[in-house]
Amino acid sequence: MEYRDIFQALKGVGDMNLSSLALPVAETGFALYPINCNPAHVDKIVVNMLTEARNRSRDSFLTYFEATSERTFQWITSNVANDSTRILFALREIGKRELYGYMGLAYGDASGARIEGDAIVRFSDTNRPGLMRKAFLSLVEWVITDIGIKEVWVRVRSSNPAVNFYNQCGFSVEFEMPLYEINGSMGVLEELSEVPLKDDAVMSADSLFHMKYQR
Ligand SMILES: CC(C)(COP(=O)(O)OP(=O)(O)OC[C@H]1O[C@@H](n2cnc3c(N)ncnc32)[C@H](O)[C@@H]1OP(=O)(O)O)[C@@H](O)C(=O)NCCC(=O)NCCS
Repeated sequence: MEYRDIFQALKGVGDMNLSSLALPVAETGFALYPINCNPAHVDKIVVNMLTEARNRSRDSFLTYFEATSERTFQWITSNVANDSTRILFALREIGKRELYGYMGLAYGDASGARIEGDAIVRFSDTNRPGLMRKAFLSLVEWVITDIGIKEVWVRVRSSNPAVNFYNQCGFSVEFEMPLYEINGSMGVLEELSEVPLKDDAVMSADSLFHMKYQR
């Protein structure tokens, strides 16, 4: 079975439904639960977490916008559901409803050789040191060992303290790309892009680190 079919099945939008499976995070009592992208089964609590956490970590990502529950629901049930190279997981304690955070994989290539860790965010204010690292490593090792995707990368803004988090997870910077500011019609910063969309595009003070996982 191709990795994309497995992702769709885990998201509850494939030919097969594997959405009730979870990835345990060894020796923590927590597990990664695939986020169901079927409109009939989207969990409101998950939508609220994604919305709130996205707004809190606005400067961590490349796109700037105000997340709302409606927008997040649309994103899950269209963008995430229809993109078979992408999957998101919610992290929570086994047997509990309270969510600790979320993390995903995205931008997998057609041959199944390469993928990126994406949207890795702690939601809980109660920090359990090392839990996000252990969970992300479980996800990375799962995609390498069980799914068979050999290369895992992350892209992270150079100013983000998460660079150190990824270092602690075994990722190292392979190369660095400039970022360009994309402004909307009102002149408000909407996005940082790796591609200058105009000749006079302004270069951001931030660059983008491409980091690769080394076992
Ligand atoms: C990045 C993030 C998920 C880390 O969560 P966390 O709960 O601190 O993670 P952990 O406790 O598992 O930390 C693991 C390691 O990363 C390091 N680390 C985590 N956050 C760090 C920070 N802000 N600055 C420096 N180091 C950090 C810790 O020192 C720890 O190392 P150790 O185990 O040797 O002590 C969290 O800070 C977050 O949600 N950030 C906002 C969203 C974001 O920027 N995501 C990445 C987008 S590319």
